[in-house]
Amino acid sequence: MQKNKVYIETYGCQMNVADTEIVLGVLKNQGYVASDNAENADVILLNTCSIRENAEQRIYGRLGNFKALKTKKPEVVVGILGCMAERLRKDLIEEKKIVDLVVGPDEYRRLPEYIDVAFNGDKGIGVKLSRTETYDDIEPHREDGLSAWISVMRGCDKFCTFCVVPYTRGRERSRSLESIVKEVESLSARRFKEVTLLGQNVNSYSDENSATGGDFADLLAAVAKVDRSMRVRFTTSHPQDLSDKLLYTIAEHPNLCNYIHLPVQSGSNRILELMNRTYTVEHYLELIERAKRIIPGVSFSTDIIAGFPTETWEDHFATLDVMQNVRYDGAYMFKYSPREGTKAYRMEDDVTEEMKTKRLQEIIEAQQSISFEKNQELIDKEEVVLVEGYSRKSDDFYAGRTDSNKVVIISADKEIQPGTYVKVKINKATHATLFGKFLSEVQIEKENIVLSA
Ligand code: SAH
Ligand code: SF4
Ligand code: F3S
Repeated sequence: MQKNKVYIETYGCQMNVADTEIVLGVLKNQGYVASDNAENADVILLNTCSIRENAEQRIYGRLGNFKALKTKKPEVVVGILGCMAERLRKDLIEEKKIVDLVVGPDEYRRLPEYIDVAFNGDKGIGVKLSRTETYDDIEPHREDGLSAWISVMRGCDKFCTFCVVPYTRGRERSRSLESIVKEVESLSARRFKEVTLLGQNVNSYSDENSATGGDFADLLAAVAKVDRSMRVRFTTSHPQDLSDKLLYTIAEHPNLCNYIHLPVQSGSNRILELMNRTYTVEHYLELIERAKRIIPGVSFSTDIIAGFPTETWEDHFATLDVMQNVRYDGAYMFKYSPREGTKAYRMEDDVTEEMKTKRLQEIIEAQQSISFEKNQELIDKEEVVLVEGYSRKSDDFYAGRTDSNKVVIISADKEIQPGTYVKVKINKATHATLFGKFLSEVQIEKENIVLSA
C-alpha cells in the first residue's frame, strides 16, 4: 500500500498558514493526500513558530503527544517545518528522538525527497535559506472558502533586535506582480471574497521586472482591480516604510480595506532605538495623522511588547500614551521573550517576570477599554458586513466582518448566503464584538462600489 497520507498542523503567523498551503501544493503534485487525522497519517508535519519561547514550548508539548503514536506505529514519519526547523536544525533531531525530518521555510520544494529519506529510515534535513525562493510557480492547496492568504514576499531585512524572523526566514525577496494578480484572478473565479497579502514588511515589496510598475502600492492597486467584490487586506506594514503613495492608493480603491496593521512595539524613543525599529514615536504619530487625513475612517491595529530590556515605568507609560493617542481598533500584545541569536539576547533580560506581567496586563486593559469605547461609538451606525456564515454559537445568527475587520453578529429574518455583503445597523457592542440588525443586501457593481457605509 502506498504511503501517501499527510497530516499537518500549523502554528505561528499567517505566513505559516500560507506556507502550509504551499507545502500541501508541493506534496499533492507528488501524489500525497491531506488527512485531517494524525492517527491515520503516514507523515505528520508540524509547521512551527519560534517567535517567543512559549510558542516553542507549545510545539514541544505537541511532540510529546505524538510520542505514544510513534511508539505504536514506528513507521510514521514525524517532521518539523517552519521557523523552529530553521532555528534549531539538527539539534531537534538529536534532542527529540521522535523527529525524523527537519525542513526549513525555503526548502519545501524538496520536501518529498526528504520524506523519502525518512521513509528509508534516515533523517531528512533541509535547512538552507535562499535569496530567491518565492514558490511563485507553486499552486497552493486551498480549500474552497471566502478568505485567502497570499504571501507576496518572504524574509525580512529589518533586524529588529528582539526578533528571530530574519534568522528563520532569511533575506527579503518578492514574488512577481503578475503571478500574484493571476492568483487573485483564480481566487475570484472560485468566488473567494477576501484576500490578505502577506509579508513581514509588505512595504518593501518590489517587483522591478513588472510592466505595470512594481512597488507595494502598485501591487495593491493591481490586485484591487481584479474583482471589486473582493476585499483586499494586507499585513504587516513597517512604520518606517509606509509611503504616502500607499495611503492614497488605499483611499482611491473602495475594496482596499481602510485598515492598517502598524506595529508600534513601544512608545518610548529610547526603547525603539534599542529595538532598532528605525523610527521615533513622533514619526509614527505623524504617519498615523497623515493616514487619518488621507483615508477617511481609517482604523489601525498594532503589536506591542512589554518589558523589553531596560524598560522603565516611564517607558511603559509612554507606550500607554501612544495607545490613547492613536486609539487602536485592536492590538496584539506580548511579553518580551529573549531569543537566542538576536542582538537583544545579549542584553540583560532585566525586567522581572512579575513586572512584565503587570505591564502587559495594564496594556491589555487599556486596549480593551479603548476597543469598548470605539465600538460603543458605532451603535446606531450602519456598517457593510461581509457575511461568513452562521455565528459560532447559534444558527439563529449570522457572523461577518466590517471593512475594519470587526466581527459583527447579525440577526436576520431571512436567509443570507455566505459571501453576501449586507448593510447592518449596529445595536450593541462589547470590546470584542458588534451586534447588528440586517437592513439590506448590498450589490457590488463591477467598477464602482462602496464597501463602508
Ligand atoms: N513583521 C511583523 C511581525 C513580526 S512577529 C512586524 O514587523 O511587525 C509579530 C510580533 O511579535 C512583532 O510585531 C512583535 O510585537 C512580537 N515579537 C517578535 N519577537 C518577539 C519577542 N522576542 N518577544 C516578544 N514579542 C515578540
Ligand atoms: Fe521581526 Fe522586525 Fe522583521 Fe517584523 S520587521 S519580522 S519584528 S525583524
Ligand atoms: Fe513565528 Fe516564523 Fe511567523 S517565528 S511568527 S512562524 S515568521
